[in-house]
Amino acid sequence: MGVTAVIGLQWGDEGKGKIVDALSQDADIVVRCQGGANAGHTVLIDKKKHVLHLIPSGVLREDVICLIGNGVVVDLEVLDGEIEELEAAGIKTSGRLVVSRRAHVVLPIHKAAEAVHEELRGKRRLDTTRRGIGPCYSDKAARLGIRVGDVLNTSTLGVKVETACRASRELRQGGQSIDADQVLEHCERYRPMLKEMAGDPLGVLQRSLSQGKKVLLEGSQGFLLDIDHGTYPFVTSCSTGIHGLACGAGLAPSSIDEVVGVVKSYVTRVGEGPLPTMMEEPYQSAVRERGQEYGATTGRPRRCGWLDLNALRYSCGINGVSSVAVTKLDTLSELEMLQVCVAYEYFGAEVETFPADIEFLADCLPRYIDTPAWEDLKGITSVTHLPRPALAYIERIRTAAGCKVGLISVGPGRGELIALDR
Ligand code: IMP
Repeated sequence: MGVTAVIGLQWGDEGKGKIVDALSQDADIVVRCQGGANAGHTVLIDKKKHVLHLIPSGVLREDVICLIGNGVVVDLEVLDGEIEELEAAGIKTSGRLVVSRRAHVVLPIHKAAEAVHEELRGKRRLDTTRRGIGPCYSDKAARLGIRVGDVLNTSTLGVKVETACRASRELRQGGQSIDADQVLEHCERYRPMLKEMAGDPLGVLQRSLSQGKKVLLEGSQGFLLDIDHGTYPFVTSCSTGIHGLACGAGLAPSSIDEVVGVVKSYVTRVGEGPLPTMMEEPYQSAVRERGQEYGATTGRPRRCGWLDLNALRYSCGINGVSSVAVTKLDTLSELEMLQVCVAYEYFGAEVETFPADIEFLADCLPRYIDTPAWEDLKGITSVTHLPRPALAYIERIRTAAGCKVGLISVGPGRGELIALDR
């Protein structure tokens, strides 16, 4: 394995948690590299559902070391709650979790700023997860951010927090104001937790790799939510592709041996923004209910769309995907018929790639082909037992992705995963 990266190739919620859980069986270390508590990675083990927002999904395998890399924005309250929940479920985190001193901390001022930004955007609001992600990354880029290492440094934290709060107040004039003492108190409350786990994932990673250990990079969100390559401005505030994972873990891109792209059998989107292949009723409600397409972080209903091979070609190309993991194939079982988008058309002409501008995208029409669905997939554990239409569907994904299909998920449980020759 060396270093394997797992990324989502659509608009998030592709089922990365389950794939990371499966691949972490062979891993020594799992790293969260970017994003923050806007993510919700769900893993079902023995009918118990675990939803992880910040801690890598690898924590569910007891021998795996978990790292939260420099590219993550850490909500201390969420981290504390997550540790508590895991410990209550009998999953030990002590001694197996390291948070980068370079990771930025989401502060109450970031959540307050986000509420103001959304209000300002009016009808063009992004409908974010309200986890303070955008403003925290903004402060990072503006060099006003507070990092994990800063929280531990009692001699300089006060002045840094004061500056960040003053800047936030002046920029927001009139918005809800939070004073520096409140923010300082917030940081101090979680200092003892950070003292235990703050460290240097870079050193851990380099030492481990030189000892031949196996590292898994766990991406969050999906590539079409990438700040540069996604449907801007309806995106998250970081790089969700392979570039973001390398940077957020502190690894050279050339050290990544394998990129596993996770593709749900259909697409979903939560929050505002274009979804070119949005399903009509009754498919919209049927797929949402069968796939339980409700946000793991916010509970919001997700919009469902048909598989979009044009978007998939784009995501696979930029990320150098070496194999794909197809998820939720079972959700489409027994539907009356399925549609697959094979290309976009702009006033009759085929569009060659994924449009850069959402205004152009809005004028693109998906070109569909109809394809039959398949019977129930319950109990299927081998690819040779998949019904013929399901195999044809997988073949379409393989061709568009331009790489092999390594895994097919046919249900939410750990066992409901078919491994193909990788
Ligand atoms: P933010 O990341 O909270 O700033 O939200 C920006 C956009 O990305 C919103 O449309 C969110 O719904 C979406 N988003 C953020 N994280 C996820 C995720 O983990 N899965 C799916 N959508 C997400």
